[in-house]
Amino acid sequence: MAVLDPDKEIPQHIAIIMDGNGRWAKARNLARRDGHRAGAESVEQCLKACGDLGVKYLTLYAFSSENWKRPEAEVTALMGLLAQFLKEKTPSLMRNNIRLQVIGHLARLPLKNQKQLQDSIAKTAQNDGLTLIVALSYGSREEIVDAAKRLMEEAKAGTINPADLNTETFSRYLYTAGTPDPDLLIRTSGEFRVSNFLLWQISYAEIVITETLWPDFRHDHLVDAIAEYQRRHRRFGGL
Ligand code: IPE
Ligand code: IPE
Ligand code: MG
Repeated sequence: MAVLDPDKEIPQHIAIIMDGNGRWAKARNLARRDGHRAGAESVEQCLKACGDLGVKYLTLYAFSSENWKRPEAEVTALMGLLAQFLKEKTPSLMRNNIRLQVIGHLARLPLKNQKQLQDSIAKTAQNDGLTLIVALSYGSREEIVDAAKRLMEEAKAGTINPADLNTETFSRYLYTAGTPDPDLLIRTSGEFRVSNFLLWQISYAEIVITETLWPDFRHDHLVDAIAEYQRRHRRFGGL
């Protein structure tokens, strides 16, 4: 495991594209859902590591707007695992002072999941340690279009002047309003793409791609990714 540099900052916000559950299962002759189930343990480890390291925000890409295209049985299995995770882990979110938030088109989720999410969000709303943001039925292009629609409505109603719109005001219309942009984006399973995740927000994120499949991702892999982040020189277009 890499060693973190105490003189360098820990990313305030880490976003993770949790990929490779299916390949993990296939390599073991297991069903894809077993891979997704195994991935829940990785989520738990990441939460603990982020809490210990003082990361303030962790955004996890759990289900994309495009993942609805998957076979119904897999979608049902994923929603079942989400329900199980919330039921089992909400007490530990409370114990660990973690606040839960979600981003995405939640209305597309089964009602049971929506209800459970609302309950866990309300229960953890006052926690002020790590904020865990789960992207569910999330697509960044939809998010940007939703923002544009709301802005157009407000312009029509005369409550906003198009001439006053800038990147800062626009970002307040995104699902992530109020959350600082990710500093570090991690994608597991060696895929070099963004898959419609936080397109606006990752403009200046440092990207770390690891070959590790999500169900194998452990505390040490997260530390390795942060160490790599600490070796980067962020310039934000300056010198
Ligand atoms: C990520 O693992 C989980 C979701 C997208 C829900 P995958 O299911 O995409 O796993 P691979 O990419 O097929 O291995
Ligand atoms: C991205 O993974 C979505 C999540 C991790 C939830 P996918 O496996 O769906 O992405 P593609 O299809 O490989 O781009
Ligand atoms: Mg995948």
